[in-house]
Amino acid sequence: MDHIQFVHRSLPGSSVHDISLSTEIGGLQWSSPIFVNAMTGGGGKATADINRQLAEAAHECDIPMAVGSQMSAIRHPEERKTFVAARKANPAGFIFANIGSEATPDEAQAVCEMIEANALQIHLNVIQELAMPEGDRDFRHALERIADICERVQVPVIVKETGFGIGFETAKLLGKLSINAIDTAGFGGTNFAAIENKRATRSMSFFNQWGIPTAVSIVESAIGAPDKTIIASGGLQNAEDVVKSLALGASAAGMSGFLLNILMMDGQEALIDYINQMKLDIRMMMCALGAKSIKHLHSVPLVISGHTEHWLRSRGMKPERFAVRVPVSFDS
Ligand SMILES: Cc1cc2nc3c(=O)[nH]c(=O)nc-3n(C[C@H](O)[C@H](O)[C@H](O)COP(=O)(O)O)c2cc1C
Repeated sequence: MDHIQFVHRSLPGSSVHDISLSTEIGGLQWSSPIFVNAMTGGGGKATADINRQLAEAAHECDIPMAVGSQMSAIRHPEERKTFVAARKANPAGFIFANIGSEATPDEAQAVCEMIEANALQIHLNVIQELAMPEGDRDFRHALERIADICERVQVPVIVKETGFGIGFETAKLLGKLSINAIDTAGFGGTNFAAIENKRATRSMSFFNQWGIPTAVSIVESAIGAPDKTIIASGGLQNAEDVVKSLALGASAAGMSGFLLNILMMDGQEALIDYINQMKLDIRMMMCALGAKSIKHLHSVPLVISGHTEHWLRSRGMKPERFAVRVPVSFDS
C-alpha cells in the first residue's frame, strides 16, 4: 500500500457529518466497510473463546465477522460449539460461514445452518496445503464444486484466498460463476507458507515470497471479474490501508492477523477501541478526499508507483488510469 498515494484536494467541498461508511456486499447492506476476516474455531475452548470475543467486539463496533474453516466441525461435531459461540455472542450480527473449496454442497449448507450464517466464504488455500507435509496435493474440479455450492446454499457466496492473492486469470474464472464477491486476501500479511515452513522438516522456502500483493490483487480481481463485488484483504492494518484498498476498487476490507494480535496482546477493550478509531479515521480521510460514500472513493485519483506500478504496467493494466480519473463531486 506504500505504492499508492492519494492526490490532495484543497477544496474537497465535503463535510465529515455527511459521510456514509455504508456499503453493499452480495445485495446485503453493511454499516461499515471493515470486517473481521476468517480465523478460528475447531480447536476446543480456546478457539471458542476467541470467536466469542471477536463476535462481541464485532457487535460492539457494528461490523461483520467471519468464523474460521468449519470443516473441523463437520468431521468432529463436538467442535460445533466453537463456531456457534460467535452466533451466540452476536445473535443479530452479520456472520460469514467458512469452508474450503473441497467441501460438498451439503457440507456447505450444513456450515451455514450451523451458525445461521448471513453469507458463506469459500476459501482457496493451495499454497498452504502444498507447504504442509500432510496437506492436499490434488486441486482439480474446485471451480465445479464452487458452482455446485452456489446452487445449494441460500446465502450470498464469497470466494476468498488465504494470503496469496487472487489474480486476473482466477478472477476471470470466478466471474463466470454465480458467486457474489471475491475476497483478494493478497500477499503482504499473514503468510501461511512461512508459518508452515517453520514447522516443516523439509521447508519449501520458495513459497515464502509467493503471492500477488494485496494492492495488485484488488486491481487484477476488479478487471478479471468486473461484475463481482471486490473485497480487499491481506495485510491490512489501519484506516489508511483500508481507504487505499477501497479507492483501488474494493467495497469492503477484511482484517485478520493484525486484529487477532491486538486481541491476544492487549485484550478485547483495546480491540474495540482500535476498530472504532479506525472508523473515525476512515471518515476523516474520506472528508479530505471529498468522498461522500465508498462508491465515491472508487473515483478519487491515485498515483501508483514502485513495484505495484511496474507489475500493473507489465500486465497491461494501465496504472495511469487511476491518476487521471475525475472525482465525483461530494454532493452528487
Ligand atoms: C490465525 C489465522 C487463522 C486463519 N484461518 C482461516 C480459515 O480457517 N479460513 C480462511 O478462509 N482463512 C483463514 N485465515 C486467513 C485469513 O482469513 C486471511 O485471508 C489472511 O490471514 C490474510 O489476512 P491478514 O493478513 O489480515 O491476516 C486465517 C488467518 C489467521 C491469521
